Amino acid sequence: MSRTSRLIIIAVVLVLAVALCALILNWQLGGRIASGNGPSIATTGGIGGDFSLTDQNGKPVTQKDYAGSFELIYFGYTFCPDVCPTELLTIAQTLDSLPKATADSIQPVFITIDPERDTQKVMADYVPLFYPRLVGLTGTTDQIAAVAREFRVYYNKVPAKDGDASAYLMDHSSFIYVMGKQGEFLDVIPYGTTKEDMAVKIEQLIQKYGA
Ligand code: NI
Repeated sequence: MSRTSRLIIIAVVLVLAVALCALILNWQLGGRIASGNGPSIATTGGIGGDFSLTDQNGKPVTQKDYAGSFELIYFGYTFCPDVCPTELLTIAQTLDSLPKATADSIQPVFITIDPERDTQKVMADYVPLFYPRLVGLTGTTDQIAAVAREFRVYYNKVPAKDGDASAYLMDHSSFIYVMGKQGEFLDVIPYGTTKEDMAVKIEQLIQKYGA
């Protein structure tokens, strides 16, 4: 074999090796992004906005009332048999597990998607069962529809099977929205996240967007 042939073979092998490395690296990066460590929904924006509602004490509030705090916003209803109480309890346990200064920088907010039953009085009885600083917001049907639209929350009335008009259930999406200190959307925490994972995620978001 001539010297030139040997050089050509070595060059081809080198090019193939570099190409293979690039391919493997690309796979790994692609896999990481696909598995959720890439750009999150937070960078897409468009979720959230101002709202006009009434808190459990009867005070009219807007998003600006919570400026300066991070917010954990959850949409649900007090008559909910399982999902809502579970999520509100997880939020409370998560806040209890965080360092006090961190927990104090967060305002938890429960917004009803069932304003027909969830009057101010009902909310006032309900929210303290979960967490002392939990705010419960209700409003007119139109006000609730508007805030649900802003947060892209799905909800729908499901009549009770036995025909009892007051015992209807509400189908609804179940995400915890993490909002920044100016009410801007940061991220969502999906239903079923453990309090440990929720605490980690909240601390990461506060570290990233804090100050
Ligand atoms: Ni629910």
